[in-house]
This record gives sequence, structure tokens and C-alpha cells, in this order.
Amino acid sequence: MCGIVGYVGDDAAPKILVEGLNRLAYRGYDSAGHALMNGSGIKIFKDVGSPEHIGQVVMKEKVMANSGISHTRWATHGGVTPSNSHPHLSNCGRIALVHNGVIENFVTLRNRLQQTGVTFHSETDTEVLCNLIASYYEDFRSEGHEDAFLHSVFAALREVKGSYGIAVMCGDQPGRIITARLGSSLVLGIGNGENMVASDAAAFCGRTNNIVYLDDGQVACLTGKDFEIFNLDNERVAAEICEVQSEHQEYERGDFPHFMLKEIFEQPEALRNSMRGRFSSDNSTTKFGGLNLEAKDLRRINRILFMGCGTAWHACLLAKYIIEKLARIPVDVEYASELRYRNAPIPDNTLVFVISQSGETADTLEALREMKRKGFETLAITNVVGSTIAHEAGGGIYQHVGPEIGVASTKAFSSQVLLTTMVGVFLGRLRDLSMSEGMRLVKGMQELPDKIVQVLQKASELEALAKKYAEYNDFLFLGRQMMFPLALEGALKLKEISYIHAEGYPAAEMKHGPLALVSPTCPSLFIAPEDEMIDKVASNIQEVKARGGPVIVITTEGSPLCDQEGIDVIAIPQTCESLMPILASIPLQLFSYYAAVARGCNVDRPRNLAKSVTVE
Ligand code: M6R
Repeated sequence: MCGIVGYVGDDAAPKILVEGLNRLAYRGYDSAGHALMNGSGIKIFKDVGSPEHIGQVVMKEKVMANSGISHTRWATHGGVTPSNSHPHLSNCGRIALVHNGVIENFVTLRNRLQQTGVTFHSETDTEVLCNLIASYYEDFRSEGHEDAFLHSVFAALREVKGSYGIAVMCGDQPGRIITARLGSSLVLGIGNGENMVASDAAAFCGRTNNIVYLDDGQVACLTGKDFEIFNLDNERVAAEICEVQSEHQEYERGDFPHFMLKEIFEQPEALRNSMRGRFSSDNSTTKFGGLNLEAKDLRRINRILFMGCGTAWHACLLAKYIIEKLARIPVDVEYASELRYRNAPIPDNTLVFVISQSGETADTLEALREMKRKGFETLAITNVVGSTIAHEAGGGIYQHVGPEIGVASTKAFSSQVLLTTMVGVFLGRLRDLSMSEGMRLVKGMQELPDKIVQVLQKASELEALAKKYAEYNDFLFLGRQMMFPLALEGALKLKEISYIHAEGYPAAEMKHGPLALVSPTCPSLFIAPEDEMIDKVASNIQEVKARGGPVIVITTEGSPLCDQEGIDVIAIPQTCESLMPILASIPLQLFSYYAAVARGCNVDRPRNLAKSVTVE
């Protein structure tokens, strides 16, 4: 969602901020802006549209500035207008602010400020916070307070309710940025003669690998030479500088036309990275360094609850099928957004697992906190190192697939499914899963990247198929057992990037309603590998064909469905049953991608969507 970048140091701020903000564009935006400071006040540039667009305006102006704060906005309070974009400037012109999150008591605060003569130029909660800080600043300054700027931020933040990640500048103090967070991620980039702040470390790429993760309730003061961290009571807090390895090319598209396609093709290597170092020396089970739970604790677990949102929720649903099969532990699956407001009776000895690529999804984070508050053991599968969910869960597993920039989740999904399968093997081997079965599954996992390469070689076949079907406006995705969550994921992928209406269903449920949709204008895509369900699915395919519905089938090489007439078939290699969802997800991703391209859609930045959803 919204993105923040701030820079203070010896170098020219505009270029660094423009580049940093462009790197955060993947989070989703509808407008963007910069506030630049050079000793003669604050200059604001902002508009609706892309960070690239506003960046060009800034670079053309050739502003000399050594500090600044920048923002990509994804509207929550107030429409998409230039005046609602950030940064906001206070009435007095001294305070500039960028903000992620929601100030829940902004109406009360705005009314109070209006009574003191403040006028507002936007509909945003952010402009209220900006003027609240400014009003404290004026008071403290006139009282001769020793650090009026810092204390005005403390005072304002003590009053607001809601969530925030903010970066603030004061026109009277060039070369200083104050930043603070509560519920919205912020990281500091510690450089040589310069310091930065951003919503995520992607913004620092190429400038520094030294990161400080700011915690909720912390306020940081940055100058070019130094940084200090405080709590809201003005007490100093020690900071740990972590070194993160991030490669420039991870944030570049390279020769690929879109990040989504790059990320689809990265999957063989991404999954190798997810597995690296996580097999026992005899290859009969898996192992994880960060679970923080002993085998004896895990043997006491008699239920698992998986939670997530969107694609991550589909990975949770697959975890249910896979872990119940491999480890014989009952698994419940919940949308994090629903569970957090439901007084669900959760049995003792339930292990809570959350899945989140970004590690910042607000609903998943709050559901995790609720489960922790109730005293459950919590674990997380996340991709972003140092993210809030990774930080707050009792233990976890990093995906290590590198940054996922495309809004449509691809490599993160396949890695999440792989890791839950590895968890299934691990828990199974602590119970009844035999050594030989463990070895068979580990071998299957080790062979998976090469099989993904074989599926990727079918890209042009999938491109032709997607072009053939790109003009349809409705689609059904159907599968049974483990292929059902995959049908949901295939439908989500298609609708989010191509805007084709698509629904996922268990194939056997067709007769209970969705069959009414089947017609020559509504194709059905079946995911039907050769397994114990194939005959049943073959009957479902006939039911659709008999009603004139076009049919696409993703099946395994040599399956009886390969020879059926009147249907379009994509054949993929066979693998262990529990690993088939991973392999079968690749053609679904490619199909959606090429359909979206054929329809001229903005694949990496679909309308209305943000990469990580950090508000409710
Ligand atoms: O970062 P998270 O995994 O928590 O994100 C959850 C969903 O917002 C995300 O998977 C979303 O559904 C994707 N756009 C799907 O491609």
C-alpha cells in the first residue's frame, strides 16, 4: 500500500528519493509526492499518478536539497486528488508530513484544530496529524523548549488513535527527519554520511545494506551523521543494526516485460532457496532452524490453525489437505480478517500458523496478535525478513524467494505450499510417517525445480491458449481434493490481473449450482492430474462438454485426458501427489499472465490493488 522514503545526508536528495520511491511503486499507489528541504524552506511536489511521473517533474526542477520525505499514496481517507496526496504541509508552512495508516480520531482532532483557526485543504487524516504536530511545535517553540520539534511529535502521537508510519520534517531544522511507527512498518537505512527511512528496504537498494527495524511505539531522529531512537516517553532505546543482502537485480525486471513473468520464471531457483539446508542428512525428513519449539512440544500439538489472506489463504487451505494427509493432525483454516473478529472456540494444544508473503498484512498481523494474546504458540511463514509478522510470531520459517514485486503472488505462493509440505513431512516424521515415505517425498521435493523448468518450457503453448480464451468474460476453475484450493488460486490469479470474472469450485459441486453458468460463453478450466480422482473429474468434464461449455484441462503427461477430443489440454510432468499443487500452479500463473497481456492490462499493477494490504 502506501510507501514512505526519507533521506538526509551529503548527497543530492531528489534523485535518491525519486529512485527510492520508484522502487516502492510495486506496493500500489494512486498518487505520489516529495517534500524537499534545502535551508530555505520546504518545497512540495505532488500529484495523482505514478511516482515516475512526479519524479520526472522533480528532476526537471533541479531543486538543490540534501533532505526530503516522499510518499506513494493508496487512498483510504479522501478521494484520489492532488490535494489529498502526500506530503502535507501545515498551515504555518513549517511542518511537512508523510503518513501510512489510519488516524481513527481525526474528526475530533480536526474539529479542535479548526476552532483554533487551522484551515484544511484536503479530506485526509494525515493533514490533521500534520497540523497537530505543528500546533504543538508552535506552543513548545514559543515556550523556548530545547527540542520543540521532537517533543511536538511525541505530544501529537500520544494523542492519536489508530495506526501510523510517519516521516516528518520541520522547515526550521534542515537536515533532520523524525520518523515513528505504530502498526505500519518502517525501516532505517544507515549509511555513510547519510541516513534513510522507508516502508521497506527495497528503497535503499544500492545505497546501504545496514538496516534498523523500527518497532511499534518507537520514534527515530535522523540526521546525515547520526540516528537516535526513543520511545514515546522520550527514553532512549538501543538499536540493532542488521546487515541484509539485497541484490540490485532482484528489484529490476531485466529482460522480462513484467515482474510477474520474471517471478514465474524464477520459481525453480526460488524453491531451491526455500529448501536449502532444510533436509536431514539422510534425506528422510525436513528440518527448520527458527521454529523455537522442541520435538516434544510439537508432539503435544493435536490441532493446527492456519490463517492468511488472499493467495496466502489458498496456501493455508492446501496446508490442510497436505498436513492432514502426511501428519494426520487435524488442520483448521481461517481467513485472518474473519477470525480476528470472531470469538472462535479454539482447543488447547492448537498450534497457530500464519502465512504472509509481505509479513505486513494488517488482518493477518492482528489475527496473529489475538492468538498470541490468548496464549497460543504461534509460527509464521513469511518472505520479508524483519517484517512485523516475522518479528512478532513466536517462531517461523523464511521463504527466501527474494522480493516479489508483481502484485499477483506467484513464486511466494509456490514456496508457501512447498514449505507447508515440508512442515507436513517434519510433523509426520515425528509421528507415523515412515522413513521410506519421508525419503520419497524429500526426493520429490529435490526433483521439483527441474520439473518446474519443464513446465516453464510450455510458456508459448500457454500463451497461445490464453490468447484463444482472452476475450471471454467469465471462467470456472475446477478441481478435486488438493486441486480445489488450486482452482481457487487459479481463479483469483485470472480475475486480479485480467479482470475476467472467475470462480473456483470443487468439481463435484458443479451439479449443486454452478453448472447453470456453463454455456459456450463460459469456459471451464479443470486441474486434473492422473490420480485417484481422475475418473470422477473426467465425468465432470463430460457434464460441462454436454452443455456446450469450452473446456481446458491441466493434466499429467500420459493421462487418459490427454487424448480426449474437443478439449484443450496442457500436460505437465508427474510428481508425488502432495507436490502436484506446486507443479500445477505454474500453468495457471502463465495462463493468467498471458490472458492479462492479451487484454492489454497492467499486469504488475492491477487496478485498485496493492501489493501488501497494511490497512483493514
Ligand atoms: O503479503 P500477504 O501474503 O499477507 O498478502 C496476502 C494477500 O493480500 C495476497 O496474497 C493477494 O491476495 C495477492 N495479490 C494475490 O496474488
